[in-house]
Amino acid sequence: MSLDHLFDIASAASRATNGTISIRRPDDWHIHLRDGAMLRAVLPFTEAQFARGIIMPNLVPPITTAAEATAYRDRILSARAPGSDFKPLMTCYLTDDARPDELERGFVEGIWVAAKLYPAGATTNAHSGVSDLKRIDPVLDRMERLGMPLLVHGESTDPQVDIFDREAVFIENALIPLMARHQGLKIVFEHATTVEAVDVVSSHAPRLAATITPHHLVINRTSLFQGGLRPHLYCLPVAKRERHRLALRRAITSGAECFFIGTDTAPHPRNRKQADCCSAGVFAGATALQTYVQVFDEEGALDRFEAFAALNGPKFYGLPVNAGTITLERKPSRVAAAVAVDDDEVVVFRGGESLPWSIAGIAP
Ligand code: DOR
Ligand code: ZN
Repeated sequence: MSLDHLFDIASAASRATNGTISIRRPDDWHIHLRDGAMLRAVLPFTEAQFARGIIMPNLVPPITTAAEATAYRDRILSARAPGSDFKPLMTCYLTDDARPDELERGFVEGIWVAAKLYPAGATTNAHSGVSDLKRIDPVLDRMERLGMPLLVHGESTDPQVDIFDREAVFIENALIPLMARHQGLKIVFEHATTVEAVDVVSSHAPRLAATITPHHLVINRTSLFQGGLRPHLYCLPVAKRERHRLALRRAITSGAECFFIGTDTAPHPRNRKQADCCSAGVFAGATALQTYVQVFDEEGALDRFEAFAALNGPKFYGLPVNAGTITLERKPSRVAAAVAVDDDEVVVFRGGESLPWSIAGIAP
Protein backbone atom coordinates (compact mmCIF):
# COMPACT_ATOMS: atom_id res chain seq x y z
CA MET A 1 0.00 0.00 0.00
CA SER A 2 1.38 3.43 -0.91
CA LEU A 3 1.75 6.25 1.60
CA ASP A 4 -0.94 8.01 -0.37
CA HIS A 5 -3.58 5.73 1.13
CA LEU A 6 -2.28 6.21 4.65
CA PHE A 7 -2.61 9.96 4.32
CA ASP A 8 -6.11 9.49 3.02
CA ILE A 9 -7.11 7.42 6.03
CA ALA A 10 -5.64 10.00 8.39
CA SER A 11 -7.47 12.85 6.69
CA ALA A 12 -10.72 10.92 6.60
CA ALA A 13 -10.48 10.33 10.33
CA SER A 14 -10.00 13.99 11.08
CA ARG A 15 -12.84 15.05 8.82
CA ALA A 16 -15.09 12.61 10.67
CA THR A 17 -14.94 14.67 13.86
CA ASN A 18 -17.15 17.41 12.47
CA GLY A 19 -19.80 14.99 11.23
CA THR A 20 -18.61 14.28 7.72
CA ILE A 21 -16.26 11.60 6.47
CA SER A 22 -14.65 11.40 3.03
CA ILE A 23 -13.20 8.08 1.96
CA ARG A 24 -11.98 6.51 -1.26
CA ARG A 25 -14.93 5.33 -3.32
CA PRO A 26 -16.02 1.96 -1.94
CA ASP A 27 -16.88 -1.28 -3.75
CA ASP A 28 -19.54 -3.89 -3.06
CA TRP A 29 -17.96 -7.34 -3.19
CA HIS A 30 -21.29 -9.26 -3.23
CA ILE A 31 -24.33 -8.11 -5.25
CA HIS A 32 -27.39 -9.74 -6.81
CA LEU A 33 -28.43 -7.45 -9.66
CA ARG A 34 -30.78 -9.95 -11.36
CA ASP A 35 -31.75 -9.15 -14.95
CA GLY A 36 -34.33 -7.33 -17.11
CA ALA A 37 -36.75 -4.97 -15.34
CA MET A 38 -35.39 -5.86 -11.90
CA LEU A 39 -31.82 -5.05 -12.98
CA ARG A 40 -32.95 -1.67 -14.32
CA ALA A 41 -34.86 -0.93 -11.09
CA VAL A 42 -32.10 -1.78 -8.60
CA LEU A 43 -28.87 -0.85 -10.41
CA PRO A 44 -29.29 2.93 -9.80
CA PHE A 45 -29.03 2.34 -6.05
CA THR A 46 -25.83 0.33 -6.32
CA GLU A 47 -24.13 2.68 -8.78
CA ALA A 48 -24.98 5.65 -6.52
CA GLN A 49 -22.95 4.05 -3.73
CA PHE A 50 -20.27 1.82 -5.22
CA ALA A 51 -17.64 2.10 -7.96
CA ARG A 52 -17.35 -1.65 -8.62
CA GLY A 53 -19.34 -4.72 -7.70
CA ILE A 54 -18.88 -8.47 -7.67
CA ILE A 55 -21.93 -9.71 -9.53
CA MET A 56 -23.44 -12.96 -8.29
CA PRO A 57 -24.14 -15.50 -11.05
CA ASN A 58 -27.28 -17.17 -9.64
CA LEU A 59 -29.59 -16.21 -12.48
CA VAL A 60 -32.03 -18.74 -13.92
CA PRO A 61 -30.28 -20.41 -15.73
CA PRO A 62 -27.02 -19.66 -13.90
CA ILE A 63 -23.96 -18.01 -15.47
CA THR A 64 -21.62 -20.96 -16.08
CA THR A 65 -19.77 -20.01 -19.27
CA ALA A 66 -17.55 -17.11 -20.27
CA ALA A 67 -19.97 -16.31 -23.12
CA GLU A 68 -22.91 -16.04 -20.69
CA ALA A 69 -20.87 -13.86 -18.34
CA THR A 70 -19.90 -11.53 -21.21
CA ALA A 71 -23.52 -11.18 -22.32
CA TYR A 72 -24.70 -10.55 -18.74
CA ARG A 73 -21.94 -7.97 -18.20
CA ASP A 74 -23.07 -6.18 -21.37
CA ARG A 75 -26.68 -6.10 -20.16
CA ILE A 76 -25.52 -4.57 -16.88
CA LEU A 77 -23.36 -2.00 -18.68
CA SER A 78 -26.25 -0.94 -20.88
CA ALA A 79 -28.58 -0.61 -17.87
CA ARG A 80 -26.27 1.96 -16.22
CA ALA A 81 -27.43 5.55 -15.86
CA PRO A 82 -25.92 8.05 -18.31
CA GLY A 83 -22.48 9.06 -17.02
CA SER A 84 -22.24 6.13 -14.59
CA ASP A 85 -18.79 4.53 -14.37
CA PHE A 86 -19.98 1.53 -12.32
CA LYS A 87 -17.86 -1.50 -13.16
CA PRO A 88 -19.40 -4.97 -12.83
CA LEU A 89 -16.91 -7.71 -11.91
CA MET A 90 -18.35 -10.98 -13.13
CA THR A 91 -18.29 -14.43 -11.51
CA CYS A 92 -18.80 -18.00 -12.66
CA TYR A 93 -21.41 -20.26 -11.02
CA LEU A 94 -19.84 -23.63 -10.18
CA THR A 95 -21.78 -26.80 -10.93
CA ASP A 96 -20.78 -30.46 -10.66
CA ASP A 97 -19.82 -30.27 -14.34
CA ALA A 98 -17.66 -27.12 -14.17
CA ARG A 99 -14.66 -27.42 -16.50
CA PRO A 100 -11.20 -26.22 -15.41
CA ASP A 101 -10.36 -25.02 -18.95
CA GLU A 102 -13.45 -22.81 -19.16
CA LEU A 103 -12.75 -21.36 -15.70
CA GLU A 104 -9.19 -20.58 -16.75
CA ARG A 105 -10.17 -19.09 -20.09
CA GLY A 106 -12.70 -16.67 -18.54
CA PHE A 107 -10.23 -15.66 -15.85
CA VAL A 108 -7.25 -15.17 -18.15
CA GLU A 109 -9.37 -13.20 -20.63
CA GLY A 110 -10.61 -10.94 -17.83
CA ILE A 111 -14.26 -11.95 -18.26
CA TRP A 112 -14.68 -13.04 -14.66
CA VAL A 113 -12.63 -12.46 -11.54
CA ALA A 114 -13.84 -15.30 -9.30
CA ALA A 115 -16.10 -18.36 -9.10
CA LYS A 116 -19.02 -18.83 -6.74
CA LEU A 117 -19.62 -22.05 -4.86
CA TYR A 118 -23.21 -22.70 -3.87
CA PRO A 119 -23.68 -26.04 -2.16
CA ALA A 120 -26.61 -27.53 -4.15
CA GLY A 121 -29.91 -26.30 -2.74
CA ALA A 122 -28.36 -24.00 -0.11
CA THR A 123 -30.25 -20.86 -1.15
CA THR A 124 -32.10 -18.94 -3.91
CA ASN A 125 -31.32 -20.44 -7.34
CA ALA A 126 -28.73 -22.80 -5.89
CA HIS A 127 -30.35 -26.00 -7.20
CA SER A 128 -27.68 -26.28 -9.93
CA GLY A 129 -24.91 -25.87 -7.34
CA VAL A 130 -22.29 -28.39 -6.29
CA SER A 131 -23.62 -31.63 -4.81
CA ASP A 132 -20.27 -32.93 -3.54
CA LEU A 133 -17.25 -30.68 -3.08
CA LYS A 134 -14.83 -33.45 -4.05
CA ARG A 135 -16.33 -33.41 -7.56
CA ILE A 136 -14.89 -29.97 -8.21
CA ASP A 137 -11.38 -30.70 -6.90
CA PRO A 138 -9.86 -30.39 -10.42
CA VAL A 139 -11.53 -26.97 -10.81
CA LEU A 140 -10.26 -25.85 -7.43
CA ASP A 141 -6.75 -27.08 -8.22
CA ARG A 142 -6.79 -24.96 -11.37
CA MET A 143 -8.13 -21.89 -9.53
CA GLU A 144 -5.45 -22.32 -6.89
CA ARG A 145 -2.77 -22.34 -9.58
CA LEU A 146 -4.28 -19.26 -11.26
CA GLY A 147 -4.77 -17.29 -8.03
CA MET A 148 -8.50 -17.08 -8.85
CA PRO A 149 -10.60 -16.58 -5.70
CA LEU A 150 -13.37 -18.99 -4.68
CA LEU A 151 -16.43 -17.26 -3.21
CA VAL A 152 -18.27 -19.57 -0.84
CA HIS A 153 -21.87 -19.67 0.33
CA GLY A 154 -20.93 -21.38 3.58
CA GLU A 155 -23.96 -23.28 4.82
CA SER A 156 -24.51 -26.99 5.31
CA THR A 157 -27.33 -28.37 3.18
CA ASP A 158 -27.96 -31.35 5.44
CA PRO A 159 -31.70 -31.07 6.25
CA GLN A 160 -31.01 -32.56 9.68
CA VAL A 161 -28.87 -29.57 10.63
CA ASP A 162 -30.71 -26.78 12.43
CA ILE A 163 -30.88 -23.71 10.17
CA PHE A 164 -29.14 -21.54 12.78
CA ASP A 165 -26.20 -24.01 12.93
CA ARG A 166 -25.68 -24.44 9.18
CA GLU A 167 -22.83 -21.96 8.89
CA ALA A 168 -20.86 -23.39 11.83
CA VAL A 169 -21.39 -26.97 10.59
CA PHE A 170 -20.24 -26.04 7.08
CA ILE A 171 -17.06 -24.50 8.49
CA GLU A 172 -16.19 -27.67 10.42
CA ASN A 173 -17.27 -30.27 7.87
CA ALA A 174 -16.60 -28.59 4.54
CA LEU A 175 -14.53 -25.40 4.69
CA ILE A 176 -11.68 -26.61 6.89
CA PRO A 177 -11.19 -29.87 4.92
CA LEU A 178 -11.42 -27.90 1.63
CA MET A 179 -8.72 -25.47 2.82
CA ALA A 180 -6.54 -28.44 3.77
CA ARG A 181 -6.95 -30.01 0.31
CA HIS A 182 -6.24 -26.70 -1.46
CA GLN A 183 -3.73 -24.92 0.72
CA GLY A 184 -3.02 -22.06 -1.67
CA LEU A 185 -6.61 -21.38 -2.78
CA LYS A 186 -7.84 -17.85 -2.01
CA ILE A 187 -11.33 -17.97 -0.52
CA VAL A 188 -13.96 -15.40 0.45
CA PHE A 189 -16.39 -16.64 3.05
CA GLU A 190 -19.42 -14.70 1.83
CA HIS A 191 -21.91 -12.99 4.17
CA ALA A 192 -20.37 -14.27 7.41
CA THR A 193 -22.97 -14.31 10.18
CA THR A 194 -21.39 -16.11 13.15
CA VAL A 195 -18.60 -15.99 15.72
CA GLU A 196 -17.35 -19.27 14.19
CA ALA A 197 -16.97 -17.60 10.78
CA VAL A 198 -15.19 -14.56 12.24
CA ASP A 199 -12.79 -16.88 14.08
CA VAL A 200 -11.98 -19.14 11.14
CA VAL A 201 -11.46 -16.18 8.81
CA SER A 202 -9.28 -14.29 11.31
CA SER A 203 -7.10 -17.34 11.87
CA HIS A 204 -6.64 -18.17 8.17
CA ALA A 205 -6.14 -14.66 6.79
CA PRO A 206 -4.85 -13.49 4.35
CA ARG A 207 -5.79 -16.44 2.09
CA LEU A 208 -9.26 -16.41 3.65
CA ALA A 209 -11.39 -13.26 3.89
CA ALA A 210 -15.07 -12.51 4.54
CA THR A 211 -17.76 -10.15 3.37
CA ILE A 212 -20.20 -8.78 5.94
CA THR A 213 -23.66 -7.45 5.05
CA PRO A 214 -25.21 -4.29 6.49
CA HIS A 215 -28.29 -6.14 7.71
CA HIS A 216 -26.39 -8.73 9.74
CA LEU A 217 -24.77 -5.82 11.62
CA VAL A 218 -28.09 -4.35 12.74
CA ILE A 219 -30.56 -7.23 13.06
CA ASN A 220 -30.46 -10.47 14.99
CA ARG A 221 -32.75 -13.49 14.83
CA THR A 222 -35.22 -11.90 17.23
CA SER A 223 -35.70 -9.06 14.72
CA LEU A 224 -37.25 -11.61 12.36
CA PHE A 225 -40.14 -11.99 14.79
CA GLN A 226 -40.44 -8.40 16.07
CA GLY A 227 -44.20 -7.90 16.53
CA GLY A 228 -44.89 -10.70 14.03
CA LEU A 229 -43.12 -12.48 11.19
CA ARG A 230 -40.94 -10.12 9.11
CA PRO A 231 -40.48 -11.63 5.64
CA HIS A 232 -38.41 -8.73 4.33
CA LEU A 233 -35.70 -9.48 6.91
CA TYR A 234 -35.45 -13.12 5.90
CA CYS A 235 -32.29 -14.03 4.04
CA LEU A 236 -29.75 -16.84 3.94
CA PRO A 237 -27.70 -17.24 5.97
CA VAL A 238 -30.46 -16.26 8.37
CA ALA A 239 -29.67 -13.66 11.06
CA LYS A 240 -28.29 -15.27 14.21
CA ARG A 241 -28.27 -14.59 17.98
CA GLU A 242 -27.21 -11.22 19.36
CA ARG A 243 -23.75 -12.47 20.37
CA HIS A 244 -23.03 -13.23 16.72
CA ARG A 245 -24.17 -9.78 15.59
CA LEU A 246 -21.85 -8.21 18.16
CA ALA A 247 -18.95 -10.37 16.95
CA LEU A 248 -19.51 -9.14 13.37
CA ARG A 249 -19.44 -5.52 14.56
CA ARG A 250 -16.20 -6.14 16.48
CA ALA A 251 -14.67 -7.89 13.46
CA ILE A 252 -15.27 -5.10 10.94
CA THR A 253 -14.20 -2.34 13.32
CA SER A 254 -11.09 -4.22 14.51
CA GLY A 255 -8.96 -2.97 11.63
CA ALA A 256 -8.34 -6.54 10.40
CA GLU A 257 -7.79 -6.52 6.62
CA CYS A 258 -9.67 -9.78 6.07
CA PHE A 259 -13.13 -8.16 6.33
CA PHE A 260 -14.74 -6.03 3.65
CA ILE A 261 -18.11 -4.85 2.30
CA GLY A 262 -20.44 -7.32 0.63
CA THR A 263 -24.01 -6.14 0.90
CA ASP A 264 -25.58 -9.34 -0.48
CA THR A 265 -28.28 -7.01 -1.75
CA ALA A 266 -30.84 -9.53 -3.02
CA PRO A 267 -34.08 -8.01 -4.32
CA HIS A 268 -37.26 -10.05 -4.62
CA PRO A 269 -40.69 -8.69 -5.56
CA ARG A 270 -43.06 -8.15 -2.65
CA ASN A 271 -45.32 -10.97 -3.88
CA ARG A 272 -42.41 -13.43 -3.57
CA LYS A 273 -41.62 -12.23 -0.03
CA GLN A 274 -45.17 -12.02 1.33
CA ALA A 275 -45.97 -15.53 0.13
CA ASP A 276 -46.71 -18.99 1.50
CA CYS A 277 -43.02 -19.73 1.00
CA CYS A 278 -41.02 -16.51 1.33
CA SER A 279 -37.93 -16.17 -0.89
CA ALA A 280 -34.64 -15.52 0.91
CA GLY A 281 -33.05 -12.13 0.34
CA VAL A 282 -32.86 -8.60 1.72
CA PHE A 283 -32.69 -5.62 -0.63
CA ALA A 284 -29.89 -3.89 1.26
CA GLY A 285 -28.20 -1.99 -1.56
CA ALA A 286 -30.10 1.29 -1.26
CA THR A 287 -29.15 1.97 2.37
CA ALA A 288 -25.89 0.06 2.59
CA LEU A 289 -23.31 2.79 3.16
CA GLN A 290 -25.62 4.73 5.45
CA THR A 291 -25.91 1.59 7.59
CA TYR A 292 -22.22 0.62 7.54
CA VAL A 293 -21.05 4.13 8.47
CA GLN A 294 -23.63 4.30 11.26
CA VAL A 295 -22.21 1.08 12.71
CA PHE A 296 -18.63 2.39 12.58
CA ASP A 297 -19.82 5.62 14.21
CA GLU A 298 -21.67 3.76 16.98
CA GLU A 299 -18.56 1.65 17.61
CA GLY A 300 -16.31 4.75 17.77
CA ALA A 301 -14.32 3.46 14.80
CA LEU A 302 -14.89 5.94 11.96
CA ASP A 303 -11.12 6.06 11.45
CA ARG A 304 -11.32 2.40 10.33
CA PHE A 305 -14.29 2.76 8.00
CA GLU A 306 -12.29 3.51 4.87
CA ALA A 307 -10.22 0.34 5.15
CA PHE A 308 -13.32 -1.86 5.44
CA ALA A 309 -15.21 0.01 2.71
CA ALA A 310 -12.57 0.80 0.12
CA LEU A 311 -9.11 -0.70 0.80
CA ASN A 312 -9.35 -4.27 2.11
CA GLY A 313 -11.43 -5.64 -0.78
CA PRO A 314 -9.16 -4.37 -3.58
CA LYS A 315 -6.13 -5.64 -1.68
CA PHE A 316 -7.58 -9.15 -1.43
CA TYR A 317 -8.60 -9.22 -5.11
CA GLY A 318 -5.33 -7.63 -6.27
CA LEU A 319 -7.13 -4.66 -7.83
CA PRO A 320 -6.30 -0.95 -7.58
CA VAL A 321 -8.04 1.23 -5.04
CA ASN A 322 -10.63 3.55 -6.65
CA ALA A 323 -9.47 7.03 -7.53
CA GLY A 324 -12.43 9.16 -6.43
CA THR A 325 -13.96 9.83 -3.03
CA ILE A 326 -17.40 9.66 -1.45
CA THR A 327 -18.48 11.90 1.40
CA LEU A 328 -20.91 10.76 4.07
CA GLU A 329 -22.52 13.12 6.51
CA ARG A 330 -24.02 12.66 9.98
CA LYS A 331 -27.29 14.21 8.90
CA PRO A 332 -30.68 12.45 8.83
CA SER A 333 -31.82 11.08 5.49
CA ARG A 334 -34.55 8.83 4.20
CA VAL A 335 -34.68 6.41 1.29
CA ALA A 336 -37.95 5.34 -0.35
CA ALA A 337 -39.75 2.48 1.39
CA ALA A 338 -40.11 0.50 -1.85
CA VAL A 339 -38.98 0.51 -5.47
CA ALA A 340 -41.43 -0.20 -8.31
CA VAL A 341 -40.64 -3.13 -10.63
CA ASP A 342 -43.14 -3.92 -13.38
CA ASP A 343 -46.50 -4.20 -11.61
CA ASP A 344 -44.91 -5.08 -8.26
CA GLU A 345 -42.31 -3.51 -5.95
CA VAL A 346 -39.26 -4.38 -3.88
CA VAL A 347 -39.22 -3.41 -0.22
CA VAL A 348 -36.07 -1.47 0.73
CA PHE A 349 -34.14 -2.52 3.82
CA ARG A 350 -34.50 0.40 6.29
CA GLY A 351 -36.50 2.19 3.59
CA GLY A 352 -38.84 4.91 4.82
CA GLU A 353 -36.91 5.19 8.11
CA SER A 354 -34.99 8.22 9.23
CA LEU A 355 -31.33 7.16 8.94
CA PRO A 356 -28.78 9.12 10.99
CA TRP A 357 -26.25 9.28 8.10
CA SER A 358 -26.62 10.41 4.52
CA ILE A 359 -24.54 10.37 1.34
CA ALA A 360 -23.36 13.94 0.72
CA GLY A 361 -21.61 13.50 -2.62
CA ILE A 362 -19.16 11.67 -4.87
CA ALA A 363 -16.04 13.17 -6.41
CA PRO A 364 -14.65 11.23 -9.38
O1 DOR B 1 -30.82 -14.47 1.09
C1 DOR B 1 -30.21 -14.75 0.07
N1 DOR B 1 -30.65 -14.36 -1.14
N2 DOR B 1 -29.11 -15.49 0.18
C2 DOR B 1 -28.48 -15.96 -0.91
O2 DOR B 1 -27.49 -16.61 -0.73
C3 DOR B 1 -29.03 -15.71 -2.26
C4 DOR B 1 -29.84 -14.51 -2.29
C5 DOR B 1 -30.68 -14.37 -3.54
O3 DOR B 1 -30.17 -14.60 -4.64
O4 DOR B 1 -31.85 -13.99 -3.41
ZN1 ZN C 1 -25.72 -13.53 -2.10
